[in-house]
Amino acid sequence: MHTNRRNWLKQLGLGVAAIGVAPLETLAAPVPGLFRDGMPGGPIRLRSNENPYGPSPMAKTAIANVANITNRYNWELPSELITTLAQKYRINNDNILLAAGSTELLDLTARFAALQEGSFLMANPTYDYWTVVAERLGLKKIAVPVMANKQYDLPAMLNAIRSDTRLIYLCNPNNPTGAICNRDALVKFIQEATQKTLVLVDEAYIDFTDQPSLCDLAIENKNLVVVKTFSKIYGLAGARVGYALAHADTIVQLSQLQSWPNGAISVISTAAALASLKDTTFVNDTRTLIEKAKKYTTSQFERLKIPYIPSSSNFLYFSLANYKKDFFAQLKSNNILGTRIYEEQGRWSRITVGTMQEMERFINAID
Ligand SMILES: Cc1ncc(COP(=O)(O)O)c(C=O)c1O
Repeated sequence: MHTNRRNWLKQLGLGVAAIGVAPLETLAAPVPGLFRDGMPGGPIRLRSNENPYGPSPMAKTAIANVANITNRYNWELPSELITTLAQKYRINNDNILLAAGSTELLDLTARFAALQEGSFLMANPTYDYWTVVAERLGLKKIAVPVMANKQYDLPAMLNAIRSDTRLIYLCNPNNPTGAICNRDALVKFIQEATQKTLVLVDEAYIDFTDQPSLCDLAIENKNLVVVKTFSKIYGLAGARVGYALAHADTIVQLSQLQSWPNGAISVISTAAALASLKDTTFVNDTRTLIEKAKKYTTSQFERLKIPYIPSSSNFLYFSLANYKKDFFAQLKSNNILGTRIYEEQGRWSRITVGTMQEMERFINAID
């Protein structure tokens, strides 16, 4: 890094780690007049797997510090973020592509796959927002049901690959089930599947686990793209920062579908992401607090005889098959935003793990 650049980053509060950190539990505070989370009359958001403690204190400071330079385009900071990420994963800068949230990268990969006619393959249920784009571009959706324990049926997925399969999507841990696929099984699947088609692994929630990223494989294999986000453990969902890790050639292919490669994220978002990467205390505290609230919620599910899937993430997947009341009416009358039924059979739904206080309100609402 040039000295000037270093000084400049220091001035912005991005080159130093020494910023006072408030206890995390006090950070899940409401934002008056905005989303009104936790405010009297405001909803409790347990719908989108957001981090109730974010953004990190260091990210907030960085955001304030760069406010003055938002009159300029974001020329400098993206390469700073790419270099920092490359160091984190011990890969090269050309293995990384930035975008406005991982959603943009899922869309980009779908658009890349759709350059050829054909189909795409995914599990059911899984995270499927991006599939609207894929289908709109003419790719046919093929979905393979997860098994009874909600694990991926990888042999069935391999069998379902057709000569016109252009893309396979795997989310690990999976949303909405929270189930994690062990690395060995995944690696074996990827080795076989990428001989035939492009595989996209979505690691939005992997930071809630101890499983390492598949980025080491991705940088070697032109048919593998790993997508990650700052929206979850880093608590920056509204800032919109995501990135893809892949072989340098694949990154070029994807970036050619961005009018301004790496340019979709704002100065403010990039600064927030850079600062978040430094705030390991925030990440560790988030993990601890989410685990604690998750444990409380699962113990209450057991008491209420609500079956659930052990979760490797910040949400829980549970069955309402034996639940006697109207679950969604209970949530509504308690001003809690939940999700929907993902699988009719077993009436499986999902709830985000919020703060302990939010989970107590959730349990009181459904008890
Ligand atoms: C599995 C998965 N991938 C991607 C996303 C999108 O995240 P981003 O905010 O980075 O666009 C989500 C959001 O909930 C998600 O659950």
